[in-house]
Amino acid sequence: MAESLAVTGSTKAERYASLLPQIHALTEGEPDFIANLSNIMSALRYGMDFFWVGAYLVKNGELVLGPFQGPPACTRIRKGKGVCGTCWEQEKTIIVPDVDAFPGHIACSSASRSEIVVPGFSQDGEVFIVLDVDSDRLNDFDETDRVHLEQLMRRIEHLQNGAPA
Ligand code: SME
Repeated sequence: MAESLAVTGSTKAERYASLLPQIHALTEGEPDFIANLSNIMSALRYGMDFFWVGAYLVKNGELVLGPFQGPPACTRIRKGKGVCGTCWEQEKTIIVPDVDAFPGHIACSSASRSEIVVPGFSQDGEVFIVLDVDSDRLNDFDETDRVHLEQLMRRIEHLQNGAPA
C-alpha cells in the first residue's frame, strides 16, 4: 500500500488526474470501508490542499459525520438542511461559490468560504454518503472539481457496494 502521495501538475485537472489513480491504489485490497474512507479524505485534503474534506454517512435518517480531515465539524445534519442535507435531498452535486449566499448554510468553520458536496449511492439507488469539500477561498470550485469528485465518488461507492467501477 502506498503511504505517501506524490501529486504532480500545475492545474487542478492535472492534480486530480495524478491523485485519483493513487487513491485507487491506496484502497486496493483493503476490505474495510471506514479505513479506506479515512485514507481517501487524507489523500484529498493533502493532495489538493483543500481546507476541509469529509464524509457524512446516512444513519437512522440523518447525516452523521464520518472520516474527515480539517478542523472539528458539526456531527449531525438533517435531510434538507445546509448544503449537505440539500445535496442528500436533491441527490445531486451542489457547488456553492459563496457560503454566505446559500440559504441555510451550516457554518462549521468561519474560515470556510466556498463548498462542493457530492452524493454517493448504494446499489439500490439510495444516497448513503455525501462528500463535503470546503475551501477558505471564495468561488474555489467549478466543473473540474465536479467531474473529478464525482469520479472519486464512483470509487467510494465501489468500495462500499462492491458494484462495478
Ligand atoms: N457547510 C455544511 C456543513 C458541513 S461543514 O462545512 C464541514 C453544510 O452547510 O451542510
